Amino acid sequence: MRTQVIIPAAGSGVRLNSPTPKPLILLKGKEIIVYSLEVFDQCSMVEGIIVVAPAQHCADFEAVIKKYSFKKPVKVIPGGATRSESVFNGVKATDPNVDYILVHDAARPLVSLKLVEDSIRACEMSKAIVVAVPVKSTIKRTDHNSKDINATLDRNILWEAQTPQVFAYELLNQAHQRGIGLEATDDAFLVERYGAKVKIFEGEYRNIKITTPEDLKIAEVFLE
Ligand code: CTP
Ligand code: MG
Repeated sequence: MRTQVIIPAAGSGVRLNSPTPKPLILLKGKEIIVYSLEVFDQCSMVEGIIVVAPAQHCADFEAVIKKYSFKKPVKVIPGGATRSESVFNGVKATDPNVDYILVHDAARPLVSLKLVEDSIRACEMSKAIVVAVPVKSTIKRTDHNSKDINATLDRNILWEAQTPQVFAYELLNQAHQRGIGLEATDDAFLVERYGAKVKIFEGEYRNIKITTPEDLKIAEVFLE
């Protein structure tokens, strides 16, 4: 089975508010994106990696990747205005003969090799896999414009979606084609809309997404 990895890394890191692109910020002396590149480079189930970078920073990403001499081919391509557009650029740059595409946010440096391998294996059974963790907090839903609560959701059936998300190649390709222009913060949403069954694979709480400045501190603690 052939698996290609796509790493969306073309965001502008607004909530982190740093001049350096978020995936190139140093975390304990190493660029955030390099942590996941090392995991995928080590994973025997992965054949290659596509990094989707901000168009104006592709050369900076290439320079960083060159420093680490990964064994696997790592290609850098320009992203789009939204995460979905960036991932779709990655899909279009993927060899259509691969079996699976694994999408992993550059902003999640703490992903483990075991989670990567287990999620790919799960996809061999189910075609669409979302790594997620049970929600720990009580989640309230409000009206769109006010802060009036209109529901308290049943925590027992709520999951916080993470990446990796793994899909059969053609399913992801079709879902993105059908979903052009839709607002989506993950790929599973487009596959769900496409009508395919998407399965949760229980992940790890430490696989946090670096979003706001305090997340950098939390990641440092995990890396100690
Ligand atoms: N991403 C992308 N292309 C975009 C937007 C986001 O490839 N146009 C990527 C980000 O680089 C990140 C992942 O999608 O690795 C998850 O997005 P998020 O954590 O929201 O990162 P940013 O969009 O960079 O941050 P913010 O929303 O605070 O601007
Ligand atoms: Mg974003």
